[in-house]
Amino acid sequence: MSHAVARYDFSDKVRAYGELARDLGALLGAERNVVANLANTAALIFGALPDLNWAGFYLPIASAGGGRELIVGPFQGQPACVRIALGRGVCGTAAARRSTVVVPDVTAFDGHIACDSASRSEIVVPLLRADLPDDVSLVGVLDLDSPRLARFDEDDRAGLERVARVIVAACEWERAT
Ligand code: SME
Repeated sequence: MSHAVARYDFSDKVRAYGELARDLGALLGAERNVVANLANTAALIFGALPDLNWAGFYLPIASAGGGRELIVGPFQGQPACVRIALGRGVCGTAAARRSTVVVPDVTAFDGHIACDSASRSEIVVPLLRADLPDDVSLVGVLDLDSPRLARFDEDDRAGLERVARVIVAACEWERAT
């Protein structure tokens, strides 16, 4: 079975993200495996959205010193930083706050972690399980980087939060430790 990435017209972002969320649900289908679903989601997003140089996931795991940190998961783009402490960088900030962080200019974000020097702007959307208490609800973050300044706006935030809900609902997540 092959899945070509459809063309989306992001001049109407609300509509395009609606179509992307619908297509993502169809692409993932009945598959519940986290790695498989995140890998296909990263490929779909990277092919669908204009002006991206990185699209992928960081996932919480136990850290050596106790507590938790983020580790890179399935992605498209240049090889990336492997581990990020909660609260560090854009990813760790979104994970710690459990809310989306939009960075119009990465050079103006204190603590931004540069994985690809081409990145100029970034959005990180937490993957949250609505069925769990807040402190254990985080199952990952979706990170998108762009070589264009101010690439992500409020429509991208709303659209990607919708995509995040599709991903969370599609996967069988391991029980949090
Ligand atoms: N810039 C991110 C690190 C991950 S890379 O962009 C893929 C951050 O500051 O958390």
